[in-house]
Amino acid sequence: LRIAVLFGGRSAEHEVSILSATNVMGALKPEKYDAFPIFITREGRWLTSAFVDGALATPSSGTEICLVPGGCGRVMAIPANGAPHELATIDMLFPVLHGLHGEDGSVQGVAQVARVPLAGCGILGSAAALDKEIAKRLLRAAGLPVARAVTIHEGTTPSLAALEGELGLPLFIKPARQGSSVGVAKVHASQEFAAALAEAFRHDRTLLAEEFIAGREIEFSVLEDAAGKLFVSRPGEIVPAESHGFYSYDAKYIDETGAALKVPAELPPEVEAAMRDAAAEAFRAVGCDGMARVDFFLTPDMRFVINELNTIPGFTDISMYSKAMAASGVSYAEVIDRLVEHGIA
Ligand code: DAL
Ligand code: MG
Repeated sequence: LRIAVLFGGRSAEHEVSILSATNVMGALKPEKYDAFPIFITREGRWLTSAFVDGALATPSSGTEICLVPGGCGRVMAIPANGAPHELATIDMLFPVLHGLHGEDGSVQGVAQVARVPLAGCGILGSAAALDKEIAKRLLRAAGLPVARAVTIHEGTTPSLAALEGELGLPLFIKPARQGSSVGVAKVHASQEFAAALAEAFRHDRTLLAEEFIAGREIEFSVLEDAAGKLFVSRPGEIVPAESHGFYSYDAKYIDETGAALKVPAELPPEVEAAMRDAAAEAFRAVGCDGMARVDFFLTPDMRFVINELNTIPGFTDISMYSKAMAASGVSYAEVIDRLVEHGIA
């Protein structure tokens, strides 16, 4: 099976994608899979890459490639010099892209148009999960608990006093469609509000102001098998260092001591069971298939809300998705196999 691993990409999580994809490449064992890495530059060009000595090439120029619409996985090469020619036929597209232009349904649509099987979540679930505002509406409509929030559209920004009346302080300002906490800020007082909005509007035209839930961050990995049955992992917990205040981009990737992962999280069995059920319901409510990580906040009195779903979660072997699966008896290699089987089914 020739599996095209798409990585890099145009989003703010370009670097995170390279880390995730390096691990996926390492797990696609050559005796079973013919891995075919495709690097997407920050500008969005698709270039041929290579996986050498455990590292993925991230060229700035080279042979551009494209999937032929309707071509059942035929890949064309468009060299900088020379004539375009057919390069290969791929059997599956495996996007390891986080955020916009990759986790949002767009690349999933490319697979559909190219008539090539896709690993992971399809168009609808990807698009709905990546947009926190839309996802929240779907979760709420399904009767699932979510944090209170106010939608902010560019040009119609409410005052902080109005938001405080509804949500209290501190509150979070988040771009609707971003991952890894890029553009997210915690606002405690009016002097922080304008900067938080300006930063968030750099990433999206729709924002969420969301109530702050003082609680633990608990996450579950959900994986669908080829027959459509959902497997929900044991819970994992993110324990952010005090110094970061919340699980920010820096705490996630820059500062190695920014957060610790505790897997499995210690929860009363009945709470864990209720959260696992909610994770599966959330997966369905948002229209996901294949894979997602479902993130919760859990208050000290054991009430939970669903924070968000990530359809292409951080995917290194020390990421929560794989750690929680491993704690549930499913190895990284098995996760990959199941994603491939699900995509081909
Ligand atoms: N958006 C990052 C990669 C995550 O959710 O793990
Ligand atoms: Mg995320």
